[in-house]
Amino acid sequence: MKSIAAIALESNQLLSIEEIEVMPPGEGEVLVEIAATGVCHTDAVMLEGLNSKASFPTILGHEGAGRVVECGTGVNSVAVGDSVIPLYGAECRQCPHCISQRTNLCWSIRETRDQGTMPDGSTRFWLNGLPINHFMGTSTFSRYTVVPEIALAKIRSDTPLDKVCLLGCGVTTGVGAVLNDADVRPGDSVAVFGLGAVGLSAIQGARIAGAMTIIAIDINPAKEAIARKLGATHFINPNTIGQRTVECIADLTAGGVDTSIECTGVLSVMRDAVEAAHVGWGTCVLTGVEASGQEVSIPPVWVRYGRTVKGSYFGGVRGRSELPTYVDMYMNGLIEIDALISHNLKIQDVNQAFDLMRSGQSTRSVLHFE
Ligand code: APR
Ligand code: ZN
Repeated sequence: MKSIAAIALESNQLLSIEEIEVMPPGEGEVLVEIAATGVCHTDAVMLEGLNSKASFPTILGHEGAGRVVECGTGVNSVAVGDSVIPLYGAECRQCPHCISQRTNLCWSIRETRDQGTMPDGSTRFWLNGLPINHFMGTSTFSRYTVVPEIALAKIRSDTPLDKVCLLGCGVTTGVGAVLNDADVRPGDSVAVFGLGAVGLSAIQGARIAGAMTIIAIDINPAKEAIARKLGATHFINPNTIGQRTVECIADLTAGGVDTSIECTGVLSVMRDAVEAAHVGWGTCVLTGVEASGQEVSIPPVWVRYGRTVKGSYFGGVRGRSELPTYVDMYMNGLIEIDALISHNLKIQDVNQAFDLMRSGQSTRSVLHFE
């Protein structure tokens, strides 16, 4: 089948809009027509060649939503016409990780996903006889993409796909980090570092969990308005307060926050987020993705004196089982997504979307195929 796709031929090059050939879905695979896809930082990190898993040429995109067009043999959990969100984290329900019920990290097809192929080791995308790799098992920058059945969340059919696509990564990561990986109690204080789609969603998670004080932190003053709209009670711009961010937070909360959520991927911010958690019980949840190989250091006494440092992957959400609930939360008005979408563009404008992201002008750009 022919498909329009944005191809990353090599690192640090503009994406190229091409007509590609998409092979039919194999056993246990599903052909999905993507309606819309968000453009996320992780796509840019890959494009810049900073992802240790980089393998070009590839089709980026991992924050999409669409409909099932064709099912390969053996597929029985989705059917033609179903609305679906591709998952970069599968949920096979059979591997030791899934069976443990202790993690949402299913590693059943991680190896082939990271090498840019389907689980059988081959690719479904071809450009003039050249095989094109998959990315994160999703490749939502192609109108038609092939995804393993175990990496598809079936969702209700009455949702706007060009909004819930953000549940494929950023929004779920932020909301879930608070609801699943932190322990926010009614009346608590929460600090959120970095107000992109992830951080703004973490603010919403804090509001849903009943936090009373929600401190939003960003070096971009333009983020204050939307942060307050989504539930922030305070805003800190580290560049203008004239004191350390951690001290400012301590002053606002009598010593530190019950929960801090880091959503920048910047090492110095991660360190601040740990320090900002209240001595004795505060928890820091790291969601930001560092550049490959980077490390952060903290004095051990910070955790010896009762702080907890945790990380969160896809908000701790098991995609196939739990994403439908997040779609419901959006449809019921509990989670705001529309306000996070600053730009609606066509797939042909994908390079502009990357420019908007790099310059800090966009919260999220959504690319449309239809
Ligand atoms: N202090 C405070 N805020 C910062 C700092 C800093 N030192 N550096 C950057 N920020 C802010 C930016 O101004 C921006 O508003 O963090 C925000 C990051 O938002 P996005 O770039 O839109 O990132 P997002 O998609 O929300 O993802 C957050 O997850 O995937 C990773 O690389 C991504 O680590 C990033 C994180
Ligand atoms: Zn599994």
